[in-house]
Amino acid sequence: MNSDKLKAFLDLAQSRRSVRDFKPDALPGEVIGQLLEAARWAPSGYNLQPVHFVVVTAPGQKAVLRRACMDQRQVSEAGAVVVFVGDRDVVKRHFDAVLAMDIEGGAVNEAYEKLLRKYVPLAFSTGPMGLGWLWKATLAPLMGCFTSVPGMPAVHRRYWLAKQVGLSAMNFMLAAHAAGLASCPMEGFDTRRVGRVLGLPGGMEAMLVVPVGYAVETERVKTRLPLASLVHEERWVDKNRKG
Ligand SMILES: Cc1cc2nc3c(=O)[nH]c(=O)nc-3n(C[C@H](O)[C@H](O)[C@H](O)COP(=O)(O)O)c2cc1C
Repeated sequence: MNSDKLKAFLDLAQSRRSVRDFKPDALPGEVIGQLLEAARWAPSGYNLQPVHFVVVTAPGQKAVLRRACMDQRQVSEAGAVVVFVGDRDVVKRHFDAVLAMDIEGGAVNEAYEKLLRKYVPLAFSTGPMGLGWLWKATLAPLMGCFTSVPGMPAVHRRYWLAKQVGLSAMNFMLAAHAAGLASCPMEGFDTRRVGRVLGLPGGMEAMLVVPVGYAVETERVKTRLPLASLVHEERWVDKNRKG
């Protein structure tokens, strides 16, 4: 185990802050590119990579975007804003291409390929006229009485996408902090309006807005619940039970 690297990583995770006060300085495009590299290398379910990044740096576009984000000032004040977008149609768009890459790279063997080809379309397809999710929504819980049934992205697509976006955005924000930059994850926005501002096509949904840039240094205290109140050994223990 490399305890120095672990300690350095813990320092990084503990010292990151959500920042709302930014200097107006622009970010070099190369730096944004490196942060997006970190975001791109996040894991995703079946390696489907359903996360796209819309980078907004033009002052006019940031001002319009701010209005769709409940007028939160950090959207127009940060040097750049990255909108993390989830692709609802990712299986149709590039399941075959990703699988081919993973096979060629040796990440997927023949048996796993067979399983993926069978399971992924079944789990994600919403069938003719998008009604296929109905039988999945009803049948899956029934099957669950007899066997373990995984969650069906066809039924809970936004939930599935939110996990993928969250992991990617965390990589992005930690990379930004490592580079001496600040960021703020944001869910306080109007999804439809943000989609219109960015010109997102059907099937693409804005899921997280992350302003990034140079912080105006302010003293901010960061708090977390004690770890012991959140950790459960082997099975759930009700930590709030009295006596
Ligand atoms: C999914 C998510 C959505 C958030 N949305 C907003 C937001 O819309 N506006 C905002 O100012 N902060 C937002 N935050 C930041 C949280 O308030 C912040 O992460 C939390 O208070 C903990 O502080 P820290 O990030 O500095 O540790 C959001 C955080 C997360 C994880």
